[in-house]
Amino acid sequence: MKLMLTPTKNGSVINKNIYGHFSEHLGACIYNGIYVGKDSPIPNTDGIRNDIIEALKNIRVPVLRWPGGCFADEYHWHNGVGERTRMINTCWGGFVEDNSFGTHEFMELCELIGCEPYICGNVGSGTVREMSEWVEYMTFAGDSPMAAERRANGKDEPWKLKYFGVGNENWGGGGNMRVEYYSDLYRQYQTFLKNYSGNTLYKIACGPSGGDWNWTEKLMESAGKMVDGIALHYYTLPTGDWNDHGSSTDFDTEVYYDTLRETLKMEHLIEEHSRIMDKYDPEKRVGLVVDEWGTWFNPEPGTNPGFLYQQSTMRDAIVAAVNLNLFNNHCDRVSMANIAQIVNVLQAIILTEGEKMLLTPTYHVFDLFKAHQDAYLVETYIQTEEASAGVPCLSASASLKDGITTITLVNLSADKSYEIRSESPSLSRISGRILTGPIDAKNTFDEPENVKITEFNAFSTIGGVLKFTIPACSVIEIRIA
Ligand code: AHR
Repeated sequence: MKLMLTPTKNGSVINKNIYGHFSEHLGACIYNGIYVGKDSPIPNTDGIRNDIIEALKNIRVPVLRWPGGCFADEYHWHNGVGERTRMINTCWGGFVEDNSFGTHEFMELCELIGCEPYICGNVGSGTVREMSEWVEYMTFAGDSPMAAERRANGKDEPWKLKYFGVGNENWGGGGNMRVEYYSDLYRQYQTFLKNYSGNTLYKIACGPSGGDWNWTEKLMESAGKMVDGIALHYYTLPTGDWNDHGSSTDFDTEVYYDTLRETLKMEHLIEEHSRIMDKYDPEKRVGLVVDEWGTWFNPEPGTNPGFLYQQSTMRDAIVAAVNLNLFNNHCDRVSMANIAQIVNVLQAIILTEGEKMLLTPTYHVFDLFKAHQDAYLVETYIQTEEASAGVPCLSASASLKDGITTITLVNLSADKSYEIRSESPSLSRISGRILTGPIDAKNTFDEPENVKITEFNAFSTIGGVLKFTIPACSVIEIRIA
């Protein structure tokens, strides 16, 4: 198979936020996941697990979305600052939360990881005033009622906050709105989200679910000039059936390819929504923010179904790598993406059990891809055949930064390796890393390193041609200096 790279002049930059994540008050994502409380015997910084902080720093998480999801549209931020007020999490399990993790704790989490916060505000059950005051609380430097309250709660200086979502899935759990109604609400709510004290917000509107082209069309038509980003949500279900998603670990090759066929639909979604956005925004000022994506399987047997806890295998790693390649290759429009979700929920990159923690195969994909962050996209052409009907055997993207070309190549085939040939302009220094294994290989708390990254250096470079073999079901990062 041939792989060709075409460095483009003035190429698009791969926004580092494509490597973003999502944390919701759902199951054991926040409580008993990221946040164990100050008094926990698990080593922590102000209640936030130290091992999780280190793992997230390693993959350079650029941005983190919070507090939901569906939860965002029932969250009243005032209950989570100062004296805490308990609330029922009606979206996920009906548990009563003590709100010990609120705005201050989330902002500290972002500071500890070194990422930007992305806050999703409440349109479904909140008021314009409530949302507007949240922004004032977080970002106003002077002497105002909200800034005074923030100071009384221990934070003198305002935080920097760029990314703000105006509601979540308001076509569904966020209020069951029609696009016409939401667009008007968006226009109203965003009017009162002010840029205080040198802080500038990047406002993200609730966008479509999957292929709801009408939502994008109407939203762009009526509010396009007032949005910076439009959120797209698309989950990969192997069955395509919301009543029975299929098992996260117990699947055969046929279901593996079904999953990949479903995930590959992301490309059409990006292209079609971008085409609609182009009509109203030909300069591509407005970003497509894929702020919920990933696999969604049946919950692990024996776990609370409302907690959406699932295992993760090499199949998830391939799904993640294929999507990240797609986002890279469409970085002229995709400005952010946030895989769902960061810890213990859906396609998590980290799982915890008491004091134990493991990194899933999906985590390792984010590690293999991290050099693409804020790099120039290099166009790739790859000769490929079908691994299964509608599923190409290979996927690739490449980028250039600081004189180093990074290629991320995925072999989607469950059982076939391929020899790759690439004529590369410079081959002076080449290194590689690989993640590979059977399609259902996974890490468990007993075997946390069953699937892990290893060095890959089985390259030959003769006459300016780079040759190597990519094993079945694997993701490779190649770095050429
Ligand atoms: O990620 C889980 C849920 O999926 C989110 O809360 C919601 O936005 C989506 O439906």
